[in-house]
Amino acid sequence: MNFKMNVGIVFLLVLPGVTSEDIIGILGKPLLLPCYPKLATPINPAAMTVFWQDEKPKVWHVIRNGKEDDSHQDPSYKNRTAFDTDGLASGNLSLLLNPVNVSDDHMTCLVILMSDSNPETVCRVTVNAAAKYQTPRLTVNQTNMTVVCSTEGGYPLASLTFLIGNQTIDPGKENTMISQDPGTGTYNIRSQVTWTRSENITCSVHNPTLNETLSASVIPESEDDEHPTGSTNYTTAIVLIVLVVVVLAVLVGICIQRRKDTPAGSQPEGET
Ligand SMILES: *[C@@H]1O[C@H](CO)[C@@H](O)[C@H](O)[C@H]1NC(C)=O
Ligand SMILES: *[C@@H]1O[C@H](CO)[C@@H](O)[C@H](O)[C@H]1NC(C)=O
Ligand SMILES: *[C@@H]1O[C@H](CO)[C@@H](O)[C@H](O)[C@H]1NC(C)=O
Ligand SMILES: *[C@@H]1O[C@H](CO)[C@@H](O)[C@H](O)[C@H]1NC(C)=O
Ligand SMILES: *[C@@H]1O[C@H](CO)[C@@H](O)[C@H](O)[C@H]1NC(C)=O
Ligand SMILES: *[C@@H]1O[C@H](CO)[C@@H](O)[C@H](O)[C@H]1NC(C)=O
Ligand SMILES: *[C@@H]1O[C@H](CO)[C@@H](O)[C@H](O)[C@H]1NC(C)=O
Ligand SMILES: *[C@@H]1O[C@H](CO)[C@@H](O)[C@H](O)[C@H]1NC(C)=O
Repeated sequence: MNFKMNVGIVFLLVLPGVTSEDIIGILGKPLLLPCYPKLATPINPAAMTVFWQDEKPKVWHVIRNGKEDDSHQDPSYKNRTAFDTDGLASGNLSLLLNPVNVSDDHMTCLVILMSDSNPETVCRVTVNAAAKYQTPRLTVNQTNMTVVCSTEGGYPLASLTFLIGNQTIDPGKENTMISQDPGTGTYNIRSQVTWTRSENITCSVHNPTLNETLSASVIPESEDDEHPTGSTNYTTAIVLIVLVVVVLAVLVGICIQRRKDTPAGSQPEGET
């Protein structure tokens, strides 16, 4: 096997047939990269050197002759890895990554064992970073007849679809706004569709890594539906106004009649 040791990174030209494992890590949470190799000979912890590195290659963690050696650790993994050296004797070479970062997405960690300077890849673990989206929120605007669906804080980018009545609508890019949080790398998605009548509108957000779909539904009230109640209110108001006017007119009429009656009645009384 061809290999060379340079600045603490092991270069392997041929990888032995080690099955790779895909695991999901939640952003900001700890993640154990499992590695329990079946070894032909028992490990002598004091003489054991273990490299955890990716294919770039960047060093995640190193145990040299049974002791931590962070001199060649890549800065992006500083303070983010932990290994329990008790595992050396029992053959538990699992590494704890904490916290998981977006930069870890799709990274493959190789666990390379070196006893008598013969490197052997014993585990391959690929990290798939993810974060749960929030349940989508729907906002209806009756004036321009649009529905806006928005969700935040997820990873990786989700696909968003609308179901209007029984028709699936995949909103185009021009109607979708995607922003990424510069700190955590999570996505916020906001998408708008137009509707024409009062029917069930469902917005679904699918996270491909978590294989999770979150939905919300709304039935917008169209102006057509509002007209009956609206015109009833209008008619009622007109009827009320007419009634008030009529009552006032009658009252005014009575007053005028009384004023006319009173002088007419009193004058003759006063004259007489
Ligand atoms: C986490 O990922 C972001 C985005 O790629 C990057 O800016 C940041 O430096 C990473 N943090 C670490 C500790 O690697
Ligand atoms: C790692 O932790 C030590 C001690 O807490 C701190 O001094 C150092 O700045 C940290 N390094 C990074 C890259 O975060
Ligand atoms: C392997 O070691 C890790 C700590 O490095 C520990 O969390 C895990 O439980 C161990 N696995 C087993 C099967 O003991
Ligand atoms: C609805 O859309 C109209 C036209 O774009 C806008 O003027 C109005 O403020 C919106 N209403 C709400 C509640 O956002
Ligand atoms: C409709 O109103 C919403 C606010 O509720 C606004 O965000 C959107 O841009 C408007 N759409 C059109 C086509 O005016
Ligand atoms: C959708 O609903 C309409 C009536 O509401 C119906 O005519 C049509 O066949 C339905 N289409 C499908 C694909 O279910
Ligand atoms: C709207 O459609 C969704 C998806 O088909 C369904 O789960 C929900 O119950 C419906 N809501 C109403 C009020 O019919
Ligand atoms: C995703 O989840 C659905 C059920 O929610 C399941 O039927 C499907 O097999 C899953 N897909 C994958 C790739 O795990």
